[in-house]
Amino acid sequence: MGTRVVASGSSLPARCVTNADLAKVIDTSDAWVVQRTGIRTRFLLEAAEEPSAMGVEAGKKALAQAKVLPDQVDLLVVATNFPDMICPGSSPFVSAGLGLRGSPFFDLTAGCTGFVYGLVVADGLIRAGLYGHVLLIGLEALSRVTDWSDRRTCVLFGDGAGAVLLEKGDPDEGILGSALYGDHEKLFLLHLPAGGTRAPASRETVDKGEHYLKMEGAGVFRSAVPMMEESTRQALAVAGLTLEDVDWVIPHQANIRIIDSLTHRLGVDPEHVIVNIDRVANTSTASIPIALDEGLRSGRIARGDVVVLTAFGAGATYGAVVLRM
Ligand code: UT7
Repeated sequence: MGTRVVASGSSLPARCVTNADLAKVIDTSDAWVVQRTGIRTRFLLEAAEEPSAMGVEAGKKALAQAKVLPDQVDLLVVATNFPDMICPGSSPFVSAGLGLRGSPFFDLTAGCTGFVYGLVVADGLIRAGLYGHVLLIGLEALSRVTDWSDRRTCVLFGDGAGAVLLEKGDPDEGILGSALYGDHEKLFLLHLPAGGTRAPASRETVDKGEHYLKMEGAGVFRSAVPMMEESTRQALAVAGLTLEDVDWVIPHQANIRIIDSLTHRLGVDPEHVIVNIDRVANTSTASIPIALDEGLRSGRIARGDVVVLTAFGAGATYGAVVLRM
């Protein structure tokens, strides 16, 4: 047996912010951001909006498409790095918004690779016969941990959520192969210094801006391409497939130059790479499920297509999953 994707959904905040909007408040320009990142717009939560509401909307869309009721969801997994509350996370908020009735839920934290890790976890639990319908949601409200005075990071990020509903399938459909990795040598490339138990929130941590995401952009950039290439090749080998068999690659949407470089190294036709970073920017754990949902709903990705999802992120984590839709 296998684990198949039954349906998908996604959600973006209503507020669209252009590079020109950002250039009014920080020292940047549309030309710099487009040329260095490929990003033109991003969608950001308003101050009064709840992050988990994006996960709820994405989840509702997936359930509606599958014609599955909330009380038929056996497990909810919310992949996120910046939960609504450090304790108890985002998953109970999403469960409440969806109206789940007593099903287990948990948060999964694995950097921007969280959704890819989540697919592997859900696959194992479904194959083990423990759960029927698993709702996996990538949810991220990066605007809430972004230093809006730091032009090196704030232009990169957006908010959003994407969801898939998974269930038991035939062996030749759904998740055909995967490869996950971790490299703790790179753990400080992307991190949020304070607010955890290592450095609890204090007046000093706030004054020093330690509740904002810190990133060594060039270090992340150098690691990202070989990490996604290695995991894509390994996941395909596990699936017994080659790049020739792949209809679509959906890379984590971090930077168009990273995506272009990966595409080139894999020797894949750029027309077969799903890209939405120009519009939604980097939404971390949400980036792959949003791109997958947009690809499916627009009809670009068809049932039966072989799709590779690959990501890298804080930790450092990286990995890939091969799916037959
Ligand atoms: O999900 C994973 C998350 N992170 C990533 O994937 C990030 C990966 N890294 C990157 O995407 C790139 O490293 C960045 C886009 C972050 C930076 O691009 P870069 O080509 O590596 O630029 P840089 O950091 O080397 O900076 C070049 C110049 C610097 O000016 P000086 O020191 O040469 O005078 C920066 O201060 O560009 C300047 N700069 C900016 N200028 C205008 C940095 N950010 C901006 C900006 N607007 N927003």
